[in-house]
Amino acid sequence: MKVSIFGLGYVGCVTAACLAKGKHEVIGVDIMASKVERLAAGHPTVVETGIEEMIAEAHAQGRITATTDGRAAVLASQASIICVGTPTGRHGDMDLTALRQTAELIGQAMCDKADRHGAGGAGRGVGAVRDHHLKLYSQYGDGRMKFYGATFCAGAGTL
Ligand SMILES: NC(=O)c1ccc[n+]([C@@H]2O[C@H](COP(=O)([O-])OP(=O)(O)OC[C@H]3O[C@@H](n4cnc5c(N)ncnc54)[C@H](O)[C@@H]3O)[C@@H](O)[C@H]2O)c1
Repeated sequence: MKVSIFGLGYVGCVTAACLAKGKHEVIGVDIMASKVERLAAGHPTVVETGIEEMIAEAHAQGRITATTDGRAAVLASQASIICVGTPTGRHGDMDLTALRQTAELIGQAMCDKADRHGAGGAGRGVGAVRDHHLKLYSQYGDGRMKFYGATFCAGAGTL
């Protein structure tokens, strides 16, 4: 399967490495050009035991690319996994801005896509915005998108 991964921080980079090792094709997406450039050159964006080799091997076999163009990544993939940050806001609440922006971007890209597209969330806050995702996807995706909310647990030594 070809999967676009939004957010190339710890969770996104580890997810990219694991999916690519499982022979899936991965398109990494981030708003930070420096992270996109690192992954596109075959290097991880985070430090984790074994990840350098996993990414390098998958990159050499053409299974990892990266871009800042989220819309193009949705159009070129069959599913998207959202791993963007959900930092703690000023009042201790969760800042869901990036999560909402990404959900909206994926939903809008669906307007130009004839095929079905799967979307999943990995990380804190995904459950909280599940209804928001579903609303956007049904609004834009015309019922062609399925959303899978998942609590992804990543920590040191995940690989
Ligand atoms: N790191 C962990 O061990 C861990 C464990 C459990 C849950 N989580 C959750 O997983 C999620 C991701 O965590 P992380 O540690 O990887 O975060 P992170 O801050 O390391 O990485 C988030 C990435 O998202 C990118 N980003 C922000 N807005 C974006 C956008 N609109 N489009 C594309 N990319 C965007 C940032 O540039 C950054 O590279 C969070 O919700 C976090 O709470 C993390």
